[in-house]
Amino acid sequence: MPKNDENSEENKKETRATSNNTFGMGPNAWGRSRPLLVATGLTRGIGRALVDAFGDKVTWLSLQRATASESSLPASVEVLPWDLAAQASPTRSQALVSALKGRPVWGLLHCAGVLGPVGGGVKGFEEALRVNTTSVLDLFETLVNAKAFSPREEDARPPFVLHLSSGAALSPYQGWEAYCTSKAATRMLFRAWSTRFSAKELVVASIAPGTVFTDMMKSVLASSPLDFPAVQKFHDLQAQGGLVAPEVPAQAIAALLFGDSQSYAALHGTLFDLRKGVVAGA
Ligand SMILES: NC(=O)c1ccc[n+]([C@@H]2O[C@H](COP(=O)([O-])OP(=O)(O)OC[C@H]3O[C@@H](n4cnc5c(N)ncnc54)[C@H](OP(=O)(O)O)[C@@H]3O)[C@@H](O)[C@H]2O)c1
Repeated sequence: MPKNDENSEENKKETRATSNNTFGMGPNAWGRSRPLLVATGLTRGIGRALVDAFGDKVTWLSLQRATASESSLPASVEVLPWDLAAQASPTRSQALVSALKGRPVWGLLHCAGVLGPVGGGVKGFEEALRVNTTSVLDLFETLVNAKAFSPREEDARPPFVLHLSSGAALSPYQGWEAYCTSKAATRMLFRAWSTRFSAKELVVASIAPGTVFTDMMKSVLASSPLDFPAVQKFHDLQAQGGLVAPEVPAQAIAALLFGDSQSYAALHGTLFDLRKGVVAGA
């Protein structure tokens, strides 16, 4: 089929990419490469399992403290040194934009998280807020300002921003002041973004992974009941087999992102609990 035929498959694809491209990146920059995902928290736990679950469907740019050789990630994962507890700055934003090398971003996944101080107190509270909340605000605004988000080329699926939420965003737990507050703040941040963008422009998703046996969960289980009176609930869950392996939420998240487009778009603005579906009123 000749290239100058406006009905040619190539021209149709190009038009589709341009018309769906809310954030201004040209279709040529997208090329035919795998969609790029910018992510935090890939070094361990649920984030690490996501890398295996997504396989070769995507290219990862991992923002992490450990160097590539220190972390167990596949060599294909690109690494940008990043401490999420550090202050945001124009230099850091520029470093992220440079690392994109002009490539459009299909998604931003904020999988990193810290429990913060257990048992209350001020020490460590601000760090928990930075890692759990402010850092994703910084990353998101940097990518939006750089007009980096773009639909997935193969089906024009809109770009997305996703974070791992928790029941602690909705329910208070004695001793988890920092964790609950930062998780609630992040959830509200995502709700606000879901009013700023339509699902056709950018899918804004909060996903609660369930109770997952990771290093964070090991810290929970190691808590003193004096600091965290609800700790017995987690011991009971463990005894009943209620703590799942990180692969379980990772596979479920992969199914949501790569599955049918209606379910994907329906994530927009919701808090989606992988065990129960959309959490009403959250
Ligand atoms: N596990 C659960 O049951 C559960 C339940 C609900 C929600 N969640 C949420 O799911 C997410 C992942 O939890 P997880 O259980 O997989 O945790 P995890 O195994 O403890 O992993 C935490 C991840 O966050 C990264 N991180 C922490 N502080 C960082 C910093 N300052 N700079 C850069 N990276 C940092 C860690 O990187 P390093 O390797 O460098 O430390 C690691 O990759 C969290 O947001 C958590 O709140 C978990």
